[in-house]
Amino acid sequence: MAKTAEYGLGEYTFPRGWFMVAASDEVTKKPIGVRFFAQDMVLYRGESGKAYIMDAYCPHMGTHLANNTTSYVVRDDSHVEGESIRCPYHGWRFGPDGKCDDIPYSPAPIPKAACVQTWPLEERAGCVFVWYDPENGTPDYDLPPFEEYTDPAWVPWKIDHLGELACHPQEILDNMADKAHLEPVHGSCDMQSFENQFNDHVIRQVLKAGHRTLASDGGDYMTNDTWYTGPGILQSRMIGEHPSLMLICHTPIDDGVVKVWHALLVKSPNAVANEDDVALARQYQESSRLAFAQDFEIWGNKRACIHPMMVQGDGPFHKVRIWYKQFYNPREKAQDFQKRANGTIVTKGTASEPWAKAS
Ligand code: FES
Ligand SMILES: [Fe+2]
Repeated sequence: MAKTAEYGLGEYTFPRGWFMVAASDEVTKKPIGVRFFAQDMVLYRGESGKAYIMDAYCPHMGTHLANNTTSYVVRDDSHVEGESIRCPYHGWRFGPDGKCDDIPYSPAPIPKAACVQTWPLEERAGCVFVWYDPENGTPDYDLPPFEEYTDPAWVPWKIDHLGELACHPQEILDNMADKAHLEPVHGSCDMQSFENQFNDHVIRQVLKAGHRTLASDGGDYMTNDTWYTGPGILQSRMIGEHPSLMLICHTPIDDGVVKVWHALLVKSPNAVANEDDVALARQYQESSRLAFAQDFEIWGNKRACIHPMMVQGDGPFHKVRIWYKQFYNPREKAQDFQKRANGTIVTKGTASEPWAKAS
């Protein structure tokens, strides 16, 4: 798959932003190795329950801090102590700030360079998110609140792990403007309206159409409000057969390869969701996952599209690509891309914006 440089996105290989790295239930006191942004990292939970992420390799002699089952450090349950993680090789221990806080056999002061890189981590709605920033700055926007996740009338999602996709995330972001794929891929017939809103770090697609998979058989219309908060977290509020909120997260593993998750919150008709509502929500999440799998299959098999061949009726791909550049460039330049993208674009060829009115 093509690389970031081929799309001409900017100075950095990976975008700045909040990104999912795991489901909460994967992160325990037993450290795990993960790979994102072309770096091997470890994820673990300290004894307080708080989760941490740091560079995988010990500065002493390069040992992987998580991938070990046989060292007595691991077997004696001293791999995680308090909030710190101990290297399985010679037992150096690192705190959640990445600094070595114990070298068990050396009386000498701990060298300043004995530290590993860490990244800010937040846990919300059953997901663990990292703030990735090539400039190592603090977050410049907030994680979404996912308020419905804790609302008793909503059935909390179960995370679908969709695995790796060998596709540059640019091609996934393009979907936000892709009005013309909705009918052939998803069966979204009878399009009523299609609009994109660009607002700083948020991009939105608002559409009303039929949907062969998710709307009821009677041919009802679905209203979808779909938005990215930054470059890696998509939510979609669907007013269809059942009100629901979809989550799709994709995080770069290497340049041109992403890891992808999907989940769906479903509102029950009751004040407190019961067992039947949970069963129905699981079914509905599966329909939603299958609808997303239609995009996934296209992305997994296509060649890179560096320059879309645009015709009348295509959505504003060029604007999406300008918007996306803000995350691949130093933050002092982000505003320039936001200013160029901000605004609302209606794509014509719908019931509310027919071609006849387009001239
Ligand atoms: S390599 Fe980690 S303590 Fe020696
Ligand atoms: Fe799609």
